[in-house]
Amino acid sequence: MTSSTAKPLAANRAPPLLGRIRIPGDKSISHRALIFGALATGTTRVRGLLEAEDVINTGRAVAALGASVEKRGDVWEIKGRGPGGLRQCAEPLDFGNSGTGARLMMGVIAGHPMTVEMTGDPSLSRRPMRRVLAPLMQMGLDVVETGKETLPLTLRGTNELVPIIYPLPVPSAQVKSAVLLAGLHAAGETTVIEHEATRDHTERMLRHFGADVRIVDKDGTRHITIRGDAELSGRDIDVPSDPSSAAFLAAAALIVPGSDLTIEGVLINPTRTGLYLTLQEMGGNVTFLNERDAGGEPVADIRIRASKLKGVDVPAERAPSMIDEYPVLAAIAAFAHGPTRMDGLAELKVKESDRLAATATGLAANGIKARVSGDTLIVEGEGRVPGGGLVATHLDHRIAMSFLTAGLASEKPIVVDDTEMIATSFPEFRGLLENLGVKFEEPRAQ
Ligand code: S3P
Repeated sequence: MTSSTAKPLAANRAPPLLGRIRIPGDKSISHRALIFGALATGTTRVRGLLEAEDVINTGRAVAALGASVEKRGDVWEIKGRGPGGLRQCAEPLDFGNSGTGARLMMGVIAGHPMTVEMTGDPSLSRRPMRRVLAPLMQMGLDVVETGKETLPLTLRGTNELVPIIYPLPVPSAQVKSAVLLAGLHAAGETTVIEHEATRDHTERMLRHFGADVRIVDKDGTRHITIRGDAELSGRDIDVPSDPSSAAFLAAAALIVPGSDLTIEGVLINPTRTGLYLTLQEMGGNVTFLNERDAGGEPVADIRIRASKLKGVDVPAERAPSMIDEYPVLAAIAAFAHGPTRMDGLAELKVKESDRLAATATGLAANGIKARVSGDTLIVEGEGRVPGGGLVATHLDHRIAMSFLTAGLASEKPIVVDDTEMIATSFPEFRGLLENLGVKFEEPRAQ
């Protein structure tokens, strides 16, 4: 499935990628900055906010619910209404392509006595919402369309949420965050128990805004407890560069011969860096330089030099720390020597598309041997990629960017059927690569 205004694009072999670049802000942190800013009392100033469609939709949603969201110069200024202070809006809230925006806002709406209709694009409307609705309904949220579990949905929140103790049935930062956001509005303590650590930006940012969050590691699980009815105060936030977007540039620099690229100020929170560790294990010349702290999150400049890569086994436990990076890892693995086995990929099937299937099909279309067995993807790296294939992107930005990246070093160009969705997370993708000397072509309509 493609959008009605599909924009196909072909990626050609690239010259060496050289120099230093900066890429836009982290998507997960940007969503949270807008949401926490809207729930805080006073003003939150955000520098480096990712200005991509997904995040803009979250900004529109919190503005429709009564927060003030304005850009002044380079800074986004959010004037919040305090926890529980948002107000009902008349129009449906449209979250476009964004699971993060929709699911986190479900946690917020749960804690307000209001009825809100939520919608999304065809990709988001297929994604499972039960994982978030189930715990929120235990706390007191009401879903008007009884039994329905996909968008569009009308949710009725309450100012009488009850706290819960919730072991996460799936390793999902979105579910964890939705429950913690609801817990912020419940009387008493709400605890989420994680069996596998997922990205922890919500916990970090809640603390930054002054909430009482306790994290205890117990018998290999992590218990995150938030005290409800808390006050949040507006804060300044500097959003570091997105490691999931940097992944495409890093991948390109590894596979395009002669490259030596440094990506500045990238978030290196350990709950996000599984890909970079894997690339190092593959023999990739990837180094973190100038490691520092930026507003409660660790960042570094990442230097990547073109490298001869070997296939590796990527353990299932690593999946939460690189869940969005498997499509691009699969593309890199095709250029490596030997098989790369990626285990524990069940969650990939419920992203913006079924990424496991879309990745395997895209690889096959470009002459790469790959197979899916249950939740495992195995890519047979032969040190070269024939290319020449057309990739179906299924409204999925990361499928589009992963295969365009592979096309920078494949023997024949790789064409993706649509690039529209890239604007949801990384609108600068094409321009940044073109500035580095990459040539894309828009194939003529058939
Ligand atoms: C995100 C969590 C992940 C990730 C998504 C962003 C977040 O989703 O895939 O791109 O910001 O919390 P899940 O929580 O569904 O794993």
